[in-house]
Amino acid sequence: MTKRSSVFALALAALAALAPTLALAGEGEGLLDANTHLTDRASLQRGASLFMNYCSGCHSLKYLRYGRMGDDLGLTEKQVTENLNFTGAKNLDHINVAMNPAEAESWFGKTPPDLSLEARSRGPNWIYTYLKSFYVDESRPSGWNNTLLPNAAMPNVLWQLQGSQDAVTEPKHGNEPCEKGEVEGKCIKDLALDPNRVGQMTPAEFDQAARDISAFLQYAGEPAAMEREYWGWKVVLFLAFFTFLAYLLKHEFWRDVH
Ligand code: HEC
Repeated sequence: MTKRSSVFALALAALAALAPTLALAGEGEGLLDANTHLTDRASLQRGASLFMNYCSGCHSLKYLRYGRMGDDLGLTEKQVTENLNFTGAKNLDHINVAMNPAEAESWFGKTPPDLSLEARSRGPNWIYTYLKSFYVDESRPSGWNNTLLPNAAMPNVLWQLQGSQDAVTEPKHGNEPCEKGEVEGKCIKDLALDPNRVGQMTPAEFDQAARDISAFLQYAGEPAAMEREYWGWKVVLFLAFFTFLAYLLKHEFWRDVH
């Protein structure tokens, strides 16, 4: 092996160590980029709080325990009990819903799914896009529809934060199916905030809230990934440094041989 190719091989090995961090890239088309960071603890803490306040009434995280979440997010047991646990569950309990699933089904026509593995099956970008894609649709039982999950049984639970969005339509092009669904025979082109029903948050603040929830669900899907992201770059830096040392050493050894 030449000097250059061995350095190259070592660089490749360093890249391979990065693979778990990079594996999250490359999700579906047409999704907004959630731009989540598992190393951003404040974002995960806000996401946990939003999830517990706005989602946990219907959705469980059955593989995650309150205690583990507290440890991972840097919260004390007291903080978790007082701010994030609304069901009186114990610290070692999993995050379940208070609602009875059969009841939920009779209300929504569908049981709200457990979201533990949602970020792994759909990806954080999907969740982020979904939370931003609700619009008013009086023809639906909940009064809401969603461009990413047409005819979703879930109402827009964040509308007071976001404000309410209306569909902006355009005529259909022949028989081509509408990309984002249709209303009254027209294709949905875009969603626009209703100026008479604005939210408590600015659009930028709402994006951040949706990002925080997506990040929290990404964490909940794989608590170990957070440690990996934490160590990933440190391992790569170490390998890069080590490669450099090995290169210098090799240079030194071979200097007199030629
Ligand atoms: C009032 C009950 C209720 C609340 C509160 C609620 N959801 Fe839902 N959610 C549902 C129902 C019902 C479905 C099933 C939708 C369907 O498949 O039509 C659903 C579906 C979903 C899905 C899609 C699952 C899939 O892959 O098809 C995601 C993601 C989701 N909810 C996230 C959230 C988040 C995040 C929150 C909090 C901000 C939340 N939900 C709050 C009832 C609820």
